[in-house]
Amino acid sequence: MTDAAAVIERVRQRVDPTPAERRALAAAASRLTERAEAAIAELPVAADVVQVGSTARGTWVAGDRDIDLFVRFPSDLPREQLETYGTTVGAAVLPDGHEEYAEHPYVTGTFEGYAVDLVPCYDVAAATEIKSAVDRTPFHTTYLQERLDDDLAADVRLCKQFLKGIGVYGSDLRTQGFSGYLCELLVVEYGGFQAMLAAIEDWQPPVVIDPAAHQQASFDDPLVVVDPTDPERNVAAVVSAANVATVQHHARRFRATPSEDAFTPASPAPLDAAALRSHIDRRDTTPLAVVLDAPDVVADQLYPQLYRSRDGVVRGLREHGFDVVRAAAWADERAVVFVELASAELPAVERHVGPPVSVGTHAERFYETYADDDGVYGPFVDDDGRYVVERDRDVRTAGGFARTELGTVALGARIESRVASGDYDVYVGDAVVEALLPEFESELAAYVDPKA
Ligand code: CTP
Ligand code: MG
Repeated sequence: MTDAAAVIERVRQRVDPTPAERRALAAAASRLTERAEAAIAELPVAADVVQVGSTARGTWVAGDRDIDLFVRFPSDLPREQLETYGTTVGAAVLPDGHEEYAEHPYVTGTFEGYAVDLVPCYDVAAATEIKSAVDRTPFHTTYLQERLDDDLAADVRLCKQFLKGIGVYGSDLRTQGFSGYLCELLVVEYGGFQAMLAAIEDWQPPVVIDPAAHQQASFDDPLVVVDPTDPERNVAAVVSAANVATVQHHARRFRATPSEDAFTPASPAPLDAAALRSHIDRRDTTPLAVVLDAPDVVADQLYPQLYRSRDGVVRGLREHGFDVVRAAAWADERAVVFVELASAELPAVERHVGPPVSVGTHAERFYETYADDDGVYGPFVDDDGRYVVERDRDVRTAGGFARTELGTVALGARIESRVASGDYDVYVGDAVVEALLPEFESELAAYVDPKA
């Protein structure tokens, strides 16, 4: 056996559900379906029940215990009735469940130890005629059931475990990674897990994969996998460029040196105060933390706002002349934009470059503006023939920037409103240690041990 085959064999032992697990899951799913059908029989409208997601396709990773059931209503049913009937069926099937809201309400709860989502959708003729995003899902199942055999399904499980191990599994907006459906399409497209890794090694983003050869829309994303059931949708739309590169890195590494490590998520030991202080000393940088109570919104809204805020703060700091080494954003009870700076303080003066002397009116205006200003050095002419003055900076410290200038940078909506009302704290240098630990001990541990 090759090294790769031996590693894969060991991973299969971990990710393949046992026959008993499969039987138990199938039995639970059919009991749930019966319950849902009984509840539907009480309604004044016809509907059917379909099992979707990985547990319908045999592609779930052993131990994952979720069952997704969709209740399909006639496509001419008014949306309000779909919502009412959907939650009625949900409440009957999952008495301990509660409602959640995506594009419309669905019910989530537990049944015999399984996490169950019961989602109402429309029974449309094709995925291109959907009235809501979830209407597409049953088409995914049909498409894949026709193409997945037992071997490919097993390779999908390997693929999922690999992506989980390297931290890029999940299409939520925190992870910006690969969904289960995307794994399935990639494994089917390349004909297996190892063939997929070989192909990924050679990817040159932007990568476009179009399994059903729709050749219609064009997408502006680093990875494009055109949904075979809907030409307008890129299944990989949320995958970030960093995550495409991360997969490529690990595909190359695994092929060169097969190891089970890639299939095992890293869990760095939490960082304590002494260790964090010694990293700050050793790096001799200045950490800055902008801290607020985490806005009370779902993760898929919070993280994009947090990432936007991180990018806005970094851009603002750079525009003011600060040298940013690295930045991150985290959320727990509180939300943090964490920025590591080359130095916390800038000189009193900054260079302010004007137009080239040769551009006439513009140049003259610049000169006149500063000629009689005793507060500046210059105007003088630099080596490129431009006017320059050296004037006092408004903001000399990173802490000062965070305290007075955050209103001028692009922030996520819910963070912007907190900032506008002054409802946040700023910590600089050693003060971050006490401010962020222990709440962010795992995030900081990962920060000081960055990995591809
Ligand atoms: N789905 C989708 N796009 C998403 C999330 C879900 O199209 N971003 C659809 C897919 O058809 C998916 C189904 O909803 O198969 C169920 O979603 P989920 O449980 O998140 O994914 P699974 O494919 O079941 O994968 P896992 O093994 O992680 O549960
Ligand atoms: Mg699932």
